[in-house]
Amino acid sequence: MASRTLSWKNSEKPTKLLAPSVLSADFSRLGEEIRAVEAAGADWIHFDVTDGRFVPNLTMGPLVVQAARRVTGLPLDVHLMIENPDAFIRPFADAGADCISLHQEASRHLNRSVQAVKSLGLRAGVALSPSTPLQTLDWVLEYVDYVLLLSVNPGFGNQDFIPNVLVKARQLRDLIEKKSYPVLVQADGGINPETIAEFSKAGVNVFVAGSAIFGQPDYRARLRLLREGAERHP
Ligand code: DX5
Ligand code: ZN
Repeated sequence: MASRTLSWKNSEKPTKLLAPSVLSADFSRLGEEIRAVEAAGADWIHFDVTDGRFVPNLTMGPLVVQAARRVTGLPLDVHLMIENPDAFIRPFADAGADCISLHQEASRHLNRSVQAVKSLGLRAGVALSPSTPLQTLDWVLEYVDYVLLLSVNPGFGNQDFIPNVLVKARQLRDLIEKKSYPVLVQADGGINPETIAEFSKAGVNVFVAGSAIFGQPDYRARLRLLREGAERHP
């Protein structure tokens, strides 16, 4: 198994990380797909966990993360789009997750949930659906490692992104810099070679892309294209 490297923040230059979402991968060959995007230059692997209740789709559980842990040393980034996320922090941590993001909209006691993730030695993220205001983060932002801004309505890949999330990302980046918080901004949904530069210009650090990568003929070329777009703006 590759050594586990947690490429988190690049102190020399602005952090710009690519996180392929396996929701768009060929699940009949998931291990090969993960190895292929790692070889092509991916920084994280993103897992879209949905329960058919918080969002209309039903996708994957800890077993998928456990299987992925056996084939890659990249950070495994678990995005919980589920009711009662607290019940699944430990199972996904035990499965090998490095980062877990919980939805603000599904958490009764978000600070406690964030602390629960961090108490297991994982990076803790808070995820916001497109219409959820940044102000809901006011009293938890200082405790999180990253904020996931959903740029599509949650649950499915291959959607167009919602333009006003770029405004939200810029406001979040400005807030983080004003407060000097060590928080990464992650954007998730509708990111492709045509849109990524706009997200980067808005101050995004971690770019989740599913259909823009998986299913394409050449993963190395796709990731290179995405990285060129991401690094076009500091
Ligand atoms: C949507 C998921 C996204 C999605 C990204 O609920 O959180 O990660 O899979 O897929 P694309 O990149 O195809 O929009
Ligand atoms: Zn996601």
